[in-house]
Amino acid sequence: MDIRKAVIPAAGFGTRFLPVTRTVPKVMLPVLNEPAIQFSVREAAVAGIEHIVFVISRGQEATNDYFQPTPSLELALEERGNADLLQAMRGISSMAHTSVVYQDEQLGLGHAVLMAKDAIGDEPFAVFLPDDIIYADSPPIGEMMRVFAEYGSSVIAVKQVPDAAIPSLGVIDPEPLSERVYRIKGMVEKPRLEDAPSNLAIIGRYVLTPDVFDAIENGRPGAIGEIQLTDAIEAVRAEQGAYAYRIIDDHFDVGTPAGMLKASVYAALLRDDMAREMREWLAAALVD
Ligand code: UTP
Repeated sequence: MDIRKAVIPAAGFGTRFLPVTRTVPKVMLPVLNEPAIQFSVREAAVAGIEHIVFVISRGQEATNDYFQPTPSLELALEERGNADLLQAMRGISSMAHTSVVYQDEQLGLGHAVLMAKDAIGDEPFAVFLPDDIIYADSPPIGEMMRVFAEYGSSVIAVKQVPDAAIPSLGVIDPEPLSERVYRIKGMVEKPRLEDAPSNLAIIGRYVLTPDVFDAIENGRPGAIGEIQLTDAIEAVRAEQGAYAYRIIDDHFDVGTPAGMLKASVYAALLRDDMAREMREWLAAALVD
């Protein structure tokens, strides 16, 4: 079955970015000049996903507004003959159909995904955590959709991480099936290093069956009292199996100010009109 819909949970407080997140949604903070959430929406659209459901809290409507047409801006750009920028602006609003559901209490990631249950219905779907930005020629979610088509059960993105990162991440117990694909034998959230079954950590891209909604509803609050998505996926895995797809591409966690800054510098270094200036400035800054 094709994956037509994606959920992007974006209702969190963004406490690590306070004070700016008092009024600006975290996902609207820029990686250079694009809001962080645009990376996930673009990845979904490139993979053929048609409908994206944003889970937001009240006051975060800018997240969805951003992906709607901007007629007066487009008219002004047309009158000025700025065809490239006009095309880029139209491209943003035509990437995918977007809609919003609200999470009125921040009860955790699993709870946020549950808010999209009616919008998704009874079909498999993708989840993107917008804090994870992945630079890849072929978007990982598209590869994960192929794995899903082959095995028919949940697929989770993972990445090899250094030992020091393990205790703050979700880690899988993997059985390798090919160079990049694993059958998951189990998952643990935030293990002690000595208890970790591997150094393959869960990254924010998932292809899930709708059974996960029941698992979230039936689950009990886990770590730090939040309703965890990993616990619900683990419950479904025990019944149906689950698979992991290992990403090897450049990846940034823009959920922290340092990660956001690194992603912005990386984006600037990719741009012909900025790379030289940035390289010179960085080299000089490192000498001082
Ligand atoms: P985080 O754990 O990074 O939380 O959530 P946060 O609020 O975004 O940031 P901090 O930790 O306060 O700095 C991971 C993802 O899950 C969403 C967040 O918006 C983020 O995209 N989320 C989390 C929700 O939508 N609702 C929740 O209740 C919790």
